[in-house]
Amino acid sequence: MHLHKYEKIWLTFGIVCLVAFLSIVGVNAFAQDHTPAGGMHTIDPEKVRETAPFNEPGVKQLDDDTYQATIIASAFAYDGGQTLQVPAGKEIIFKLTSTDVVHSFTIDNTNVNMMVVPGQVTTKSYTFKEPGKYLIICNEYCGTGHHYMYTEIEVTE
Ligand code: CUA
Repeated sequence: MHLHKYEKIWLTFGIVCLVAFLSIVGVNAFAQDHTPAGGMHTIDPEKVRETAPFNEPGVKQLDDDTYQATIIASAFAYDGGQTLQVPAGKEIIFKLTSTDVVHSFTIDNTNVNMMVVPGQVTTKSYTFKEPGKYLIICNEYCGTGHHYMYTEIEVTE
């Protein structure tokens, strides 16, 4: 095979750039301790319902100012206990996992937009300022029922 001189130069240039780019990304990721959203908290996706806190999905008060909302995502629903109801003005710690495929947990009109990955516990803290009903949707394509995957959270006074 014969390579033209310019072809060789550009090939070398391309490879050098790729190696440099990947090194920068890699070194940064380790140096800055990058992890998936919510950290490296993992869970056996086959045993979600036997593993705390997902054995008791729902909203639980942790202390005067903090609540934890434990929710299981699966095709094509969210299981957050009976009704998802939390108070406004308090810190809500959302803890999610998936039992099957990748979903998302996106609360309309907020900056809560979590990726829910099987085998991983995703955590996000949020404080609702305004009471009302908020729509929760899945924005990660997860199968034929993806567009039916939504629920609601009620934020009380
Ligand atoms: Cu779940 Cu899309």
